[in-house]
Amino acid sequence: VPAAGSGDRLGPGDPKALRPLGGRSLLFHAVARLRAAQSVGPIVVAVPAGSQDRVAAELAGLAVTAVAGGATRQESVLAALRALPSEVDVVLVHDAARPLAPVSLINAITAAVLAGAPAVVPGLPVHDTVKRVGPTGLVLETPPRETLRAIQTPQGFQRSVLERAHVLAGQPGGAGVTDDAGLVELLGEPVLVIPGAVNAFKITRPEDLAGESSVSAEPAV
Ligand code: C5P
Repeated sequence: VPAAGSGDRLGPGDPKALRPLGGRSLLFHAVARLRAAQSVGPIVVAVPAGSQDRVAAELAGLAVTAVAGGATRQESVLAALRALPSEVDVVLVHDAARPLAPVSLINAITAAVLAGAPAVVPGLPVHDTVKRVGPTGLVLETPPRETLRAIQTPQGFQRSVLERAHVLAGQPGGAGVTDDAGLVELLGEPVLVIPGAVNAFKITRPEDLAGESSVSAEPAV
């Protein structure tokens, strides 16, 4: 669980993963849902440097290992990956910034990896027309909308594939990749998209937390 981002786009305050949602942190909600998923074993969280004690208190009872995150999301994922027990051979990577991803989605991603896919991601159809735009503002391309998906987490991987993919993160072309599946694509391995969930949305801007106090603090499914 990469949870070491600053959350600058949310405005001044705590690191994003520790901002409140219904009386608990975003991180608590995200980890509680992972813990409630019968397909999930050990959980490693990459946390902001200096926040380890706070995170340990916040996640007490959820049986997680906390490691210091890095300067980028890729570095945070790699730090968590290195702390996983050796017997783990399927890995889910899940943003702390997606606190409400349903347990059913977590289990569906795991099941698809266990069924043989090297990499599996949740995706939703997009409702806006999406254009690729050049630096001067001119449109380069409009991909057919029915071929596009907005990709979420948790993303699931065979551990060996994810480890090989993260070697590419430090190489040319790897630095700009914004999700783990993108690194697997650079490897040339297939990435399967399965239906995502509206509730797996990412908290990014202040308006994403509008009405946050009406969310239940229960680690419900
Ligand atoms: O920046 P963004 O909102 O896309 O971050 C997605 C996830 O990556 C968040 O859960 C954030 O805490 C995490 N992250 C991290 N380490 C960083 C930057 C982001 O763990 N250096």
